Amino acid sequence: MAYVWDKDLETGHELIDNQHKQLVRAVNDLQVANASGKAAEEIERTIDFLLGYTVKHFHDEEALQIEYGYPDYYEHVSYHREFKGQVAQLAGRLQEEGPTRELVDEISQHIGDWLLHHIKSDDLKMATYVQQEDARRRGPTI
Ligand SMILES: [Fe+2]
Ligand SMILES: [Fe+2]
Repeated sequence: MAYVWDKDLETGHELIDNQHKQLVRAVNDLQVANASGKAAEEIERTIDFLLGYTVKHFHDEEALQIEYGYPDYYEHVSYHREFKGQVAQLAGRLQEEGPTRELVDEISQHIGDWLLHHIKSDDLKMATYVQQEDARRRGPTI
């Protein structure tokens, strides 16, 4: 089933929100490609994009947290690291088993569910902090 972007997923940080939208779209693209029986190479290309973009996104988020001195940085990074480990395991299985429908379904669902959960909790918390810190640094507007 397709993942739907809604208000719950908006953190209010433009760069992060755009990357999240792109990730959700990539998960949906993968599901569609899988369901419509696309060739193995296309499935693998779609997965490669999704995995590469996930790593880039995590990197950008972590850089933002360093820039703003986010107090829960290490906790947040540990979630990213744990997830990257899970993704590496799935990628290993993909190499061994090939892109079967079941495995690709499992990969897209696992990534989609994890991302949505993480965005709504940890990323939202981070973005709220960044916004408050931004306002504090700008100082009074009058
Ligand atoms: Fe994120
Ligand atoms: Fe995150």
